[in-house]
Amino acid sequence: MRKHVRIGLLGCGTVGEAFAELLVERRAAVADVSDITLDLVRIAVRDPDKPRSSALDPKLFTGDVHDVVKADDVDVVVELIGGTGPAGELVRTALSSGKSVVTANKELIASQGPELFAEADAAGVDLFFEAAAVAAVPILRPIRESLLAEDVRRVVGIINGTTNFMLTRMMSDGLSFDEALAEAQRLGYAEPDASADIEGADAASKIAILASLAFNQAVPVDGVSREGIVGLDREDFELAARFGFVIKLLAVAERFADPTGGADAPGAIGAQVFPALVARDHPLASVRDSFNAVFVTTSAAGELMFYGHGAGPRPSASAVLGDVVGAADQLLRGRHRHIPVGPTASLRPARELVHSYYVRADVDEAPGVLSEVTGVFGRHGVSIRTVDQRGSEQQARVVFITFPAPEHALDSALSELSELAHVRGVHRVLRIHA
Ligand code: NDP
Ligand code: HSE
Repeated sequence: MRKHVRIGLLGCGTVGEAFAELLVERRAAVADVSDITLDLVRIAVRDPDKPRSSALDPKLFTGDVHDVVKADDVDVVVELIGGTGPAGELVRTALSSGKSVVTANKELIASQGPELFAEADAAGVDLFFEAAAVAAVPILRPIRESLLAEDVRRVVGIINGTTNFMLTRMMSDGLSFDEALAEAQRLGYAEPDASADIEGADAASKIAILASLAFNQAVPVDGVSREGIVGLDREDFELAARFGFVIKLLAVAERFADPTGGADAPGAIGAQVFPALVARDHPLASVRDSFNAVFVTTSAAGELMFYGHGAGPRPSASAVLGDVVGAADQLLRGRHRHIPVGPTASLRPARELVHSYYVRADVDEAPGVLSEVTGVFGRHGVSIRTVDQRGSEQQARVVFITFPAPEHALDSALSELSELAHVRGVHRVLRIHA
């Protein structure tokens, strides 16, 4: 027998409208495969008088969010407002009113996930958030379910669609930073406040969520060190290409072995977001436009790759709709899924994490300058793999590629370099992902 589940939607912007349209479009097909009929009964927005999609009944819209989160005729609330306030309070009210919640809000889950999971558990309802990390790509459920018994060592990937789209357009088509960002915003990839994308905060939230689930330790988003793509220029792209690299915004989380514990002891976690040089023949180098890819390394399964659209209204709506069907199914079976939250992770500071580096500097063209500079690197324990020097009679542009060294070693080398009279400036430092 067909069962009806009533959906209340909070927010009908870029993702919310695509979700509502997809629900209308796929409603009959979902009912055919699942015996569940999803009824969209109410949509709360900031401005109910704004023109909306012609696929949506104007009578569904309200300007009062409580018409959704407290309504007796809503079973599942879909939160697509974004941000932590008022979205956090609304999610809490919905959960405590006995409604399951589906959200795409990575900022909220990364900052308040453990508390919200506990509130969902206490209320006996579900809180699903597949679209919060890597949009259309099913990755959270595989990590939580298929890899539950696995020992996950590392999660690394391109997990922000906006910046990957921008970097692709800037490198391949010569677009300026502002042109590429405007195009990403037009296509609905960017966050309502795009600084979250370009400054790395969005990727930091996502890697905190992925790492918390993968390592079963709560990784606070504040513990993720981050750098975005602001300031990268044409010369960076040209030099990267000359050395056989592309530039990608990467997110990396790694669980280090606990030297004092057994193999299963929860070792410290390092979590970072940074623009990196990626070798042209590395699989991540071919991830272009708004596509994302995540490699998960486990002890038994080895390396797994998840790939697909990481941003955009319809891909994100697809993940939200999948969660809504899952939440509706659970509700009808009278079940909810407990989300385990391990202890708060012990985080390894970024300064102790090890990378190879690309360093671009301007130095005076004079005898002995290069050996003086390489001597500084050597004194701080940073070995140089290659040096490329080009320039005029007065000044040279030098690119150093180093062997792996901890970040504190590079930082102290750079600070001594900045004191040298012959060093005109260190213009860029990028980590290299091998
Ligand atoms: P938008 O800014 O496009 O839409 C926000 C919606 O929320 C609008 O409909 C707005 O109403 C409504 N709203 C805002 N404030 C309130 C309020 N106080 N009360 C009621 N309604 C309110 O956001 P997006 O669709 O871009 O993002 C939504 C969420 O999806 C975010 O958490 C984002 O991180 C996430 N996400 C986005 C992806 C993407 O590719 N863009 C992918 C995956 C997740 P009104 O229309 O009247 O202004
Ligand atoms: N702004 C985000 C991105 C949306 O570009 O990846 C998907 O989470």
